[in-house]
Amino acid sequence: MQVQQNYSLKNYNTFGINVLARYFAEFESVNHLKAILNHQENTSKMILGGGSNILFTKDFSGLVLKNNISFIEEFQESDGKVLVRAGAGMNWHRFVLHCVENNYGGVENLSLIPGNVGASPMQNIGAYGVEIKDVFHELEAYDLKENIVRKFKAAECEFGYRDSIFKKKDKGRFVILNVTFALNMKPVFNTSYGAIEQELERMNITQLSIKAISDAVINIRSSKLPDPAFIGNAGSFFKNPVISKEEFERIKELYHSSVNGMASLKEIPFYTIDEKQVKIPAGWLIEQCGWKGYRNGDAGCYDKQALVLVNYGHATGDEIYTLSSDIIQSVKEQFRIDLDREVNIL
Ligand code: FAD
Ligand code: EPU
Repeated sequence: MQVQQNYSLKNYNTFGINVLARYFAEFESVNHLKAILNHQENTSKMILGGGSNILFTKDFSGLVLKNNISFIEEFQESDGKVLVRAGAGMNWHRFVLHCVENNYGGVENLSLIPGNVGASPMQNIGAYGVEIKDVFHELEAYDLKENIVRKFKAAECEFGYRDSIFKKKDKGRFVILNVTFALNMKPVFNTSYGAIEQELERMNITQLSIKAISDAVINIRSSKLPDPAFIGNAGSFFKNPVISKEEFERIKELYHSSVNGMASLKEIPFYTIDEKQVKIPAGWLIEQCGWKGYRNGDAGCYDKQALVLVNYGHATGDEIYTLSSDIIQSVKEQFRIDLDREVNIL
């Protein structure tokens, strides 16, 4: 067991923010984790996966525990489903590729999402019409309060849009050790997200397969999301706001009358949630406010996707955070909509 002191986290967060952890340790098993905890009882703790959904704004004064539990096993087949369990420290995309190679259906639409398996239920990761909750079976987590390993079934996780119990009342209490997914032996293709159909057509795919969908998603994502290996970012910085239909009608009028008094030809994009609510792409709202492609020093708003804030090199967490506050304020002024940050701020 090795606990480092005053350890730089620059290579452990995809924004590439250079902050220090007072203490830093990596663990490969639950026993390894317990041994570290025994030596560090009275320190505040945070669990780190791939660091792709975090903005560090200051040094962390406690213990950062990097979860490296990595394995994959298949253990049951019934009713056309296979249960696949993966260690929390396994890279998410590597897990997806394993499923695609074995023709296990359900996670192909979630290809190329950065980060590790353990964080996937934290915020119910989602993309291109699929969320983790659709394939989730159960997870095991170490309870830092009771010092026991606990199982969570889907209902106990309270999954919502980019949300779960682990982000709400039990924030910081559980260390997710492994996650089990129920995947389809006979794939059910989900191409409901328009861009996938278009990309499959462009790729001249005539025989639909899990691999083809995974490749299409990889192509779409690579064309508009910045690769953290080259430009620091944490994906969507804000959630897409969910508003009432009445509110949406108000915004439509506001928007149409605000385009220099001329009738606007553009429609506001939206997804219907139910008969009462719609979700509006925050990227569209931010673009309308003029932020897309904005840069101040090394902090910026990505020019291909306004929902993504970026670090072009040496921005501080505070600079990115200040930019996010300015964006929230201007969207509020222009549309009277409050944007919520999706990224965890530390
Ligand atoms: P981290 O950033 O390390 O941690 C995130 C939070 O989870 C922290 O609060 C941390 O303490 C906690 N945590 C991490 N691991 C554990 C564990 N084992 N036990 C308990 N708590 C833990 N997200 C989407 O949903 N859809 C997308 O399409 C998407 N696209 C992205 C694109 C890019 C380019 C980037 C950079 C990010 C994107 N994201 C997306 C966000 C991010 O990839 C996901 O939120 C991912 O699940 C974070 O995983 P991580 O291991 O990096 O978590
Ligand atoms: N749009 C703009 N301008 C922009 C960006 C988007 O007008 O600069 C509009 C366009 O109309 C576009 C629509 O927004 O058609 C939707 O854009 P996109 O398909 O890129 O999706 P998104 O709503 O911006 C969400 C998720 C992503 C996920 C994609 C694909 C959230 C907060 N974000 O983005 O997740 O990959 O859908 O399903 O829900 C993440 O969580 O980090 C993330 C990247």
